[in-house]
Amino acid sequence: MDKKIESIAIDGVAGVGKSTIAKMLAEKLGWKTLETGAIYRAITASLLAKNYDVKDEDFVGNIAHNLFIEVKYLKGVQHVFVDGMDLTAYLRGGAVENNVPFVAKVPEVREKVRAVQRQIAESENIVVEGRDIGTVVLPNSQNKIFLTADPKVRATRRFKQLCAKGQKPSMRKIYADILKRDELDKTRAISPLVPAQDAFVVDTSDMQANEVVDLILTKIKTKEKGLGAER
Ligand code: DC
Repeated sequence: MDKKIESIAIDGVAGVGKSTIAKMLAEKLGWKTLETGAIYRAITASLLAKNYDVKDEDFVGNIAHNLFIEVKYLKGVQHVFVDGMDLTAYLRGGAVENNVPFVAKVPEVREKVRAVQRQIAESENIVVEGRDIGTVVLPNSQNKIFLTADPKVRATRRFKQLCAKGQKPSMRKIYADILKRDELDKTRAISPLVPAQDAFVVDTSDMQANEVVDLILTKIKTKEKGLGAER
């Protein structure tokens, strides 16, 4: 008999802690995680490295068809390769950060990334984290979670993280960036950020990460027993 492959689809606003929650959940379940933003970031890094104009939507759309994207787990860490190059070390730089929204909104790019995501999710139990996982990528997933939190809370968390790293961040700038990213994600023409109809929406503003994880696991287990009432 075929083994049943399961997934948890986690979507949500920027800076809400999706990847932290996804990793903690995966650890508890013994599953892998797929951070899908990293794929959009790797494509952006690849295009920027070639000095391409990432704001030229037609050009990026044409190139997207021929990109060869691979996600590999090396010593348990997700790496993204584009055309054979491991771009994992270049995903968090300012240039990628500023340009990835232009790349992520191109339909041909989303189509390409969707196929990669589905192929991975079909092969093993996985927690997939992104913006359109429950709505577009894995609409049949039984476990859809949508995380949200007050933008001020998200900005404060980010501020503290950067301070802990010895940086001197501007709270005003962090807050403005979060509002800008929310706007871009929610108003995108394709795959805008919205909770799937059957998603379990969790407002994490007043919650610690371990509380969010416990709540999600309880919700999933309750559903498995057929006791959970859907929204
Ligand atoms: O989650 P992140 O910050 O690494 O995402 C990087 C960019 O990719 C951001 O602009 C949102 C976009 N993204 C997306 O459009 N769809 C996803 N499933 C994941 C990320």
